[in-house]
Amino acid sequence: MTNTAVLSMSFERRREKCDIRIENGLLSRLPRSSFSNSSSIAVISDDVVSRLYANRVKSQLSKIATTSVITFPHGEKSKNIETCSRIAAKMSDLGLDRKSTLVALGGGVVGDMVGFVASIFKRGVRYVQVPTTLLAQVDSSIGGKTGVDTDWGKNQLGTFYQPKAILIDLQTLDTLPHAEVFNGLAEMIKSGVIDDSELFRSIEKMDSFSVENLKSLIARACRIKARVVERDEKEANLRVILNYGHTVGHAIEASSNFTLSHGKCVILGMAAEGWIATKLGIFSESDCMRQNELLSGIIKSFKVKNLDAGKILAFARLDKKSSVNSIKMSLPERIGKMHQMGDGSYLIPVKKELFLASLQKLQREL
Ligand SMILES: NC(=O)c1ccc[n+]([C@@H]2O[C@H](COP(=O)([O-])OP(=O)(O)OC[C@H]3O[C@@H](n4cnc5c(N)ncnc54)[C@H](O)[C@@H]3O)[C@@H](O)[C@H]2O)c1
Repeated sequence: MTNTAVLSMSFERRREKCDIRIENGLLSRLPRSSFSNSSSIAVISDDVVSRLYANRVKSQLSKIATTSVITFPHGEKSKNIETCSRIAAKMSDLGLDRKSTLVALGGGVVGDMVGFVASIFKRGVRYVQVPTTLLAQVDSSIGGKTGVDTDWGKNQLGTFYQPKAILIDLQTLDTLPHAEVFNGLAEMIKSGVIDDSELFRSIEKMDSFSVENLKSLIARACRIKARVVERDEKEANLRVILNYGHTVGHAIEASSNFTLSHGKCVILGMAAEGWIATKLGIFSESDCMRQNELLSGIIKSFKVKNLDAGKILAFARLDKKSSVNSIKMSLPERIGKMHQMGDGSYLIPVKKELFLASLQKLQREL
C-alpha cells in the first residue's frame, strides 16, 4: 500500500461523511473543500505543535477565511474543562460564530479537547482534525470521541461528535520524539490483532519500529478504525473490540499514577488479555504465542519492574464495562478476528482469579 490514501466514513442516518486524507506534505496544500463556507477559522494547538506547524497551517487557511491561532500548554494536564473554557472565551473574543470551523492541530490531547469545544460552542460548530502524533493519526482523531479529564477520572466529560475531515500529513511525524512513537505502535499492533492479520504480519516483519517503517502502514491502520466506527459509532457492541488490551492496560496506567505511558500499558495489557483468552479456550495457543513473541521483544525494552496487582484489579473494576464481580473485556479468537459470545456480544466476563493470574504471569516475564 502506498503512503497516500483517501478513506471515507459515512454516517448515513445523519447523512454525514468524513474523509480521511493521508499524504506527505499535506499541511502545505490543505484541501479547500474541508473548510468551505467557513465564516472564520481558528487553529487550536498546544505550544509545542503550534511552534512547529501553526504558521504553515494559518498561511494556507487565511486564503479561505480569516484565521486565528489559539494555543495552550502541551500535555495531558491541560486536558480539562478549565482549558476548554479559556479556549471558548478566546473564540468568543475573536468573534467566532456558528459558521466558524475549528482546526485541531496536534496529538490526541488537542484533538479530544478541540472536538469537545466544537461540540458545545454555540451548540456545535464544525471542526477538522489535523493529527500530528502517530497515536492521533491511527487512532484518536478517528471516531468522534471527544472529552476532557476531571478530578474523578480520565475522559469523564465528553461527547460523540464527528469531525468534518481528518487531514494527516505524514511528514509531521518526522519531528515526533521517539518515546511518543510507542503509543501509536501499540494501537497499530492492536488493530492487527483485532481485525487485520496482514497488518500484524507486516509489523512482525519489521527490522525496527522506526517512524519511516511505520508510516507505510498508517493508512491500513486508519482503515480498520474507520470501518469499525462507521458500523458502530456509539459503541453499542462492535466498537468495544477497539478496547483490546485496554482493560488491563488502563488499569496498569492508572495504578502507576500515569507515570507509565499509555502505549507501554496497552502492550502489557495485550500480553495479559491474550493469555486470559487462551485460558478461556477462546484464543488459539499458537496465535497467542505469535502475538507474545512480538510483544515480549518490545516489553523487554520497558524496564517496568513491579506491577501492583491489588491496585490494578481495583482500577479494572472501575472500568465502565465491568462490575465488582466480573471484569469485562474484548478478546481475540485468532490474529485478525475477535471473539463473539453466543448472543453476539464482543464483551467477555472474566473472573477476578483469572485476571489476577494473568498479572502474575505478566510479572514473571518483566
Ligand atoms: N478520542 C479517542 O478516541 C482517543 C483514543 C486514544 C487516545 N485518546 C487520548 O489521546 C491523548 C493522548 O494523545 P497523544 O499520545 O497524541 O499525546 P499528546 O497530544 O499529549 O502529544 C504528545 C506530545 O507530543 C507533542 N507533539 C505532538 N505532535 C508532535 C510533532 N509532530 N512533533 C513534535 N512533538 C509533537 C505534543 O506537544 C505532546 O507534548 C490522551 O488524552 C488520550 O485519552 C483519545
